Amino acid sequence: MRSSHIFSKFEIGVFVVIVLSMLSIRTARAATTPAIDAEAIFKASCSGCHGPQGSANSPAAKLLKLRDLRSPEVLKQTDAQLYAITAKGSKNMPPFERSLGKAKIQALVSYLRGFSKKK
Ligand code: HEC
Repeated sequence: MRSSHIFSKFEIGVFVVIVLSMLSIRTARAATTPAIDAEAIFKASCSGCHGPQGSANSPAAKLLKLRDLRSPEVLKQTDAQLYAITAKGSKNMPPFERSLGKAKIQALVSYLRGFSKKK
């Protein structure tokens, strides 16, 4: 047989089915574990005290004498320190470990770092 090097229609059909099923598994996974939206979490849980984008530019932030979360004094702290403050709280800062969980707090720490990079 001289056709050994040519894919049969059947083989191509099998290949297409495999690729399509792999693609649909990937989209199904993406739908069940959505990416963490740190911006939305920050707006919902943090900006009430810290102001928009952690700017400390809100009445509550001024009352609490908060530092701008984008300032070098805040960002010179390590990720572990920023994580610990958010997870465990500090003085008037409530702990978020139980309500948000590890992954979301980690996402928030990266989100805080992202503020200053945008500027
Ligand atoms: C009820 C008000 C309140 C809310 C809500 C709040 N914080 Fe705070 N946050 C504070 C206060 C007050 C401090 C200062 C604590 C201190 O002086 O030890 C602080 C400090 C911090 C710091 C350290 C800043 C510094 O000056 O070194 C980080 C980081 C931080 N908060 C992140 C967050 C994140 C992320 C959230 C949302 C999950 C959040 N905060 C929600 C009140 C709040």
